[in-house]
Amino acid sequence: MSGTGLILAIESSCDETAAAVVERGERALSSVVASQIATHARYGGVVPELASREHLRAIVPVVRAALAQANITLDDLDAIAVTSGPGLAGALLVGITYAKALSFAQNIPLIAVNHLEGHIHAVLLHERSLPDGRTSEEDEQALALVVSGGHTHLYLASPSSSGWTYKLVGRTLDDAAGEAFDKVAKLLGLPYPGGPWIDALALYGDPHAVPFAFSQIKPKLHLAGKAPRTKAARTAPIADLDHRFLFSFSGIKTAVLRYVELHNLRPEASARAACFFPGSGCGSDGIEMSLKGLSPATKPPKTKAEALAICPQQTLDLIASFQCAVVGDLMKKTFAAAESLGAHRILVTGGVAANRELRARFAAEAARRGIRVAFPTLALSTDNAAMIAAAAWPRLLAHDFADHTLAADPSLALGR
Ligand code: KG4
Ligand code: ZN
Repeated sequence: MSGTGLILAIESSCDETAAAVVERGERALSSVVASQIATHARYGGVVPELASREHLRAIVPVVRAALAQANITLDDLDAIAVTSGPGLAGALLVGITYAKALSFAQNIPLIAVNHLEGHIHAVLLHERSLPDGRTSEEDEQALALVVSGGHTHLYLASPSSSGWTYKLVGRTLDDAAGEAFDKVAKLLGLPYPGGPWIDALALYGDPHAVPFAFSQIKPKLHLAGKAPRTKAARTAPIADLDHRFLFSFSGIKTAVLRYVELHNLRPEASARAACFFPGSGCGSDGIEMSLKGLSPATKPPKTKAEALAICPQQTLDLIASFQCAVVGDLMKKTFAAAESLGAHRILVTGGVAANRELRARFAAEAARRGIRVAFPTLALSTDNAAMIAAAAWPRLLAHDFADHTLAADPSLALGR
């Protein structure tokens, strides 16, 4: 070890091949992300076989670019960190294998990081980079909402002398919020990933036009405590969780489908009903999609102007109402959990944390209640490796290392 405090992190859990160099968990010297969106967009969701192949292609150039941008060599590193789960098995394996090889060749420690913990540290990393930001010594307990394409989880995150500990407080019983954004977008003929398109188009609709009742996104309480239906649900038992903090987004997804059918809003390009329900993301329940039986969608819009041209006002109103309902549900449960747990600080992170309405409404509600809310930068909201390096720093200090037996764990859970 060179004692520089420099960690090179690799992230390949889903459809982004990323590498970053971060100093002492606080200063990102580089963060390189090679997106596979162009590859998967034709299929309306992530195709695992293609993801693994693209990671294999990108991993070496991405790591080289991260080192070059940081203006360092492998010899300057103190450790290699890598995402070990959750995510797509084949995709995780590419990053893990390369990280192991680098750690072995350089004779420096290997640190395994949970992808969800990485998302939480994206906010902490960003906070520390601000001029008046908090330092790691000032860290205090926070309620973290991780809201992405594969996850909608609430954790109570607590700093300790040996790193951070996490207690699972709430989670989705079925779809992740980002998955609902992606599936609704796909139904309306919008490209993958759908979240940014819904975000952009919602500005043109009336959020009160379609009254989605909250009952449609209430959890199915009869499932709580019983065997969960999805593979994702198996990663974290729900029996012990307070039902007020459970999410469910499959109901609103179906309500949107019914509305579209009733009002004949389905565009030609997405008239492939079978493709609405398969998983679209990288959550462990979102991996059913395979190359078999898939055909590329016909000409989805490429620009916002093209998207506006295929969306009648009624569709724009539907989009705005959908987003408003999902953000409202995320807010209601997150703030209720913060109040119930006495948390004065909320961290909102994951791809969906890039959503404009979500940021504005969380910030306004936090100000009204006199508590703090923090988000990562937009670049740190979606998958990246800087967050993995930041999460690895306390592990390096605690000498919490992985060895050559490290394996990909697609269903890896965080906390208890
Ligand atoms: O964190 P992320 O990059 O990957 C996962 O770990 O899943 O999140 C990707 C998810 C996708 O579902 C994408 O549609 C959603 O984040 N997303 C958004 C926005 N940007 C990305 N959802 C809503 N509004 C956005 N602006
Ligand atoms: Zn993620």
